[in-house]
Amino acid sequence: MEQTDAPIRRPKKRLLRKILLIALTLTALAITVGATFVGTYRPAYRPAPEVTIQPTAERVERGRYLVENVTGCMQCHTDRDWTLYGGPAKRSSWLGGGESLTPEQGFPGTLRLPNLTSDDETGLGRWSDGEILRALREGVDRHGRALFPMMPYHVYRHLSDQDATAIVAYLRTLAPIENPQPATNVAFPVSFFIKTIPQPLDAPVESLDSADTVRQGELLAKVGGCEFCHTPRNERMEPLPGMAFAGGHELEGAFGKVHSANLTPHATGLGGRSRDEFIGIFKAFAGDGGSAIDVEPQDNTPMPWSDFARMTEDDLGAIYDYLQTVAPVENSVDSGRPLVDSGRPLVDSRRPLVDSGRPLVDSGRPLVDSGRLPSTRSTPVDRLAEARASNVDPVAGSQ
Ligand code: HEC
Ligand code: HEC
Repeated sequence: MEQTDAPIRRPKKRLLRKILLIALTLTALAITVGATFVGTYRPAYRPAPEVTIQPTAERVERGRYLVENVTGCMQCHTDRDWTLYGGPAKRSSWLGGGESLTPEQGFPGTLRLPNLTSDDETGLGRWSDGEILRALREGVDRHGRALFPMMPYHVYRHLSDQDATAIVAYLRTLAPIENPQPATNVAFPVSFFIKTIPQPLDAPVESLDSADTVRQGELLAKVGGCEFCHTPRNERMEPLPGMAFAGGHELEGAFGKVHSANLTPHATGLGGRSRDEFIGIFKAFAGDGGSAIDVEPQDNTPMPWSDFARMTEDDLGAIYDYLQTVAPVENSVDSGRPLVDSGRPLVDSRRPLVDSGRPLVDSGRPLVDSGRLPSTRSTPVDRLAEARASNVDPVAGSQ
């Protein structure tokens, strides 16, 4: 019996071994090919445009306005002063690079927030104008490396050629700041996925018709980061469907933990606020940039009030016009900022704020004497006015 069985079993074993060997070889091959693909995969990019941007006064001024008051490059590329309300960027190190993100902060690797001044060694000194333009809207550095998409190039790609050129012209005027920073080193697999994001521009980006305030506002809300911060997202930073501008997005950092406000036209959002009132909320920060408000860094807000305060009324108005067209979403958000909600429930905010008949814009009279009926919801403007009028610590005073 043994003898007849044996010849039958042996070929079976051999066959199994053969299959196993083939399977192993195929797996090894797949891993090698896959690893080579992943390792050598290059992001899509085109040669940097060959342009020399003339720094005309008008162009530099337009670029300065966009950077300082709209696109907020310094919110990431400069250290911010969290002892001041809204954390304005420090003038002393203007665009000289922000503090790197590290694994200790939960980041997958080390991320440098680059120095954008014209320093040769540590800034953009050796970059051509075209290379900076390409990085800004198409997301690769001068060697074709994909930029980590925290740099919102996928949003800036909507900037017209005229505006993008103006931004580069302005950056070129910055005095060099020498600031050696650690190299960026993003861990796998994130390092692979980010390579799939850059997309070259294949046509000129025209400027929008300035009479179309809704479209202008849509663009401003994108490049100003309003849409990013005010739309709730999942852990992969993808916007939640049907929740555009509905607020509640959690942001955590040196400023503490906050939730962004609902900016949709729903009563739990901008509600009955008029265009003038909306503009007024921002303009209230124009004078002293909110420095009247004493704030502990951990009770601060990433909402860059003092930068946006100097946005033109036309641009702020355009953002309002656009926000009026987005779907109203019911979402009562407690921003977590006593400066904004005073710890009072925001659910009672359905009452229109148009009770005083005067615009919220600081008309030279102290805002606190406006005779406005006490509202169930205090805005940053209220807090600012109270602080200016009474020197009371607004955080302690809000209990
Ligand atoms: C939300 C944060 C954020 C904002 C806002 C931002 N950036 Fe960046 N930017 C980054 C990060 C992070 C990097 C580095 C990405 C990397 O190295 O992978 C970067 C990289 C760059 C680079 C490439 C520099 C280099 O040395 O590789 C340029 C140029 C740049 N940004 C310009 C700008 C300009 C101009 C603006 C405003 C219009 C801006 N950035 C706004 C986060 C930001
Ligand atoms: C970096 C994130 C961030 C960006 C960018 C940002 N916001 Fe905000 N915003 C917040 C947070 C957080 C709050 C709530 C805390 C506060 O009021 O400061 C807020 C509050 C507000 C409020 C106050 C609402 C209220 O009822 O009190 C308005 C209005 C507003 N943002 C409009 C805008 C607009 C318009 C833009 C773009 C031009 C913008 N925000 C960009 C984070 C951001």
